[in-house]
Amino acid sequence: MVLAESVVVEVPGRRIADGLDLRLAAGECVALMGPSGSGKTTVLNTLAGLVRPDSGTVDICGERVSDAPPDRSAAVRMSRIGMVFQFGELMPELSVLENIALPAAFASHPDATERATRLLDLVGLAGYEQRAPEELSGGEAQRAAIARALVCGPRLVLADEPTGALDEANARRITGLLVDVCRENRAALLVATHDPEVAAAMDRTLLLRDGLLVPRPDTAGRSR
Ligand SMILES: Nc1ncnc2c1ncn2[C@@H]1O[C@H](COP(=O)(O)OP(=O)(O)O)[C@@H](O)[C@H]1O
Ligand SMILES: [Mg+2]
Repeated sequence: MVLAESVVVEVPGRRIADGLDLRLAAGECVALMGPSGSGKTTVLNTLAGLVRPDSGTVDICGERVSDAPPDRSAAVRMSRIGMVFQFGELMPELSVLENIALPAAFASHPDATERATRLLDLVGLAGYEQRAPEELSGGEAQRAAIARALVCGPRLVLADEPTGALDEANARRITGLLVDVCRENRAALLVATHDPEVAAAMDRTLLLRDGLLVPRPDTAGRSR
């Protein structure tokens, strides 16, 4: 599903990844932890093909994105990867339904609206189709963002602190939703988080330390 080997990523003055390896299986849910500034977002962006590693390789569903031309890595991103950001990042001028349908429309799925409607229902937002994003609570916006991330049937979901702006109850709900949907669809899930409760809901936790991903056995395993 996801295979990253010997990945090196440098930003000006710093080496974020220093020979990092990662392997994610289909249906596997994994937490990515590390202090602020340790490089979690950069790692997610590298897996998404948005950041090109200085060396090493990233393969998504057997396709090499780390040295693909931008249009090719964009195509892999669009067809294989769903991304969820900390604040949802919905487009303010589009309705909730249009936001969710957007990736499917870009990918020219003829049933973009039907898919989006189905996913809205799945995340508990049926009836919110015509609302503006600004009319949603933080938890609702995150659920919409999850629906948008799933609309193209991704094999990999990358979530960057998706519960960072939510209260505990909503954080738990969003986490459960992400895990359930990814398991059901046999998608791999990688969630960057600071929240031990989020991490505890995953199959295992990886810690970004000194540019490498190291297992955290003490926090691995589902607690719920
Ligand atoms: N394009 C960039 N140019 C310069 N510095 C960057 C760039 N992207 C990230 N950084 C730096 O790399 C470090 C890791 O950032 P980030 O991946 O956002 O960490 P995290 O998500 O763990 O907080 C930070 O010090 C950040 O300022
Ligand atoms: Mg970050």
